[in-house]
Amino acid sequence: MNPLSPPTPSDIWSDWLLHRRHGNNDEQAGHLQIKINQFADRVLDNAKLATGMTLADIGTGDGLIAFRAIDRIGPSLKVILTDISSAILHHTEDLANQRQYQHQCRFVHCTAENLGAIADASVDVVITRSVLAYVPDKKAAFNEFYRILKPGGRLSLGEPVYRDDAFKLVALKTWIDNHPDHPDTRLLRLAHRWKSAQLPATLEAIRANPLTNYSERDLFVMIGECRFGDVHVELHLDSATQHAMEWHVFIQSAPHPQAPTLKEILETRFSEEDRLFFEQAMRPAIELTGQGSMERMVYITARKPGSTPSGSS
Ligand SMILES: C[S@@+](CC[C@H](N)C(=O)[O-])C[C@H]1O[C@@H](n2cnc3c(N)ncnc32)[C@H](O)[C@@H]1O
Repeated sequence: MNPLSPPTPSDIWSDWLLHRRHGNNDEQAGHLQIKINQFADRVLDNAKLATGMTLADIGTGDGLIAFRAIDRIGPSLKVILTDISSAILHHTEDLANQRQYQHQCRFVHCTAENLGAIADASVDVVITRSVLAYVPDKKAAFNEFYRILKPGGRLSLGEPVYRDDAFKLVALKTWIDNHPDHPDTRLLRLAHRWKSAQLPATLEAIRANPLTNYSERDLFVMIGECRFGDVHVELHLDSATQHAMEWHVFIQSAPHPQAPTLKEILETRFSEEDRLFFEQAMRPAIELTGQGSMERMVYITARKPGSTPSGSS
C-alpha cells in the first residue's frame, strides 16, 4: 500500500480478524493461531498444491491460507487473494510486502459470488476457509469457483457448521420454558440470552441466516449441482476444553465476525443484578479450567471435470 494513501476504514471483518476474535490479547491470539493453523493445514493438504500452480484464496482474510501455501510451495506458486473487505485486503497486502511475497500475489476486492476480475479456466486450485458461512448465495460462489478453475482443477474448502449450535439454542429455550422453577433455570436463561445474541435462535431465523441455513450435506449437494465431480466430504466433530483465560479477555472475544462480544451483550442486554449473578457463576470456570467447546468443521474437496492441470498429482 502507498504509505501516503489514507488508511482504509476498518469494518466488521477486519475488526474481528485483527482484534475481536482474540479479545485483543496476544496470549489468546497465540493459542488461537495454533488451532487455526491446524484447520488451514488440513485444507492445504487436501488441495494437493504443486510447483508452478496458480491458487485462488477466496475470502483470504489476513492471508492465512495464501501465505502458508507460498511457504509450502515456494516462489513458483502464484496466488490470487480475494476478499469482500478492502480494509483487510490492504492489511494483507502490507503483510505480503513485509514477507516479500508481493511478486507472487494478486489482490482482488470482490465477493465470492462475483469473481469477475478472474478469468475463466485460469486457476489450478480454489481454496476457501471459513468464508462460505457468510456468503448468502453459496451456489453462486460454487459456480464462480467452477468457472475460474482449469479443467481438472481442484476445490478444497473448510467451513464451520454452526447450525447444530443454533438448534441447541432452540431446544434450550423449550427446556427453560418447561422448567420455570428448576434451580438451574436462572443461569440457563442468561446463557440463552448470551448465545442467542451471537447465533440465530429460532427455527425461522436459522433458516433465514446464511451462517446457519446449511449442513455439510447441503454443501455436498450444492457442489454436485454446480457440475463438480469427485466430491468428497469429511465432517470433523471435536469436543475440547479451551485453555483457561482471564475473564476480561473472554468477554471481549467474539466467536465470529457478525457476533457481539459477551461484554457488549452484558452491557446492553443484562440488568446489573443479572450481570453480577452471571459473572459469579461463570468466571471461576473460565479462569480456572476453561470453557468446554464443540467444533464442527466440514472439509470438502471436488474436481472440475477434464484433464488434470500439469504439475498436479
Ligand atoms: C472468518 S474470516 C476467514 C479468513 C481466512 N479465509 C482464514 O482462513 O483465516 C472470513 C473472511 O471472509 C470474508 N468474506 C465475508 N463475506 C464474504 C463474501 N461474500 N465474499 C468474499 N469474502 C467474504 C471476510 O472479509 C473475511 O476476511
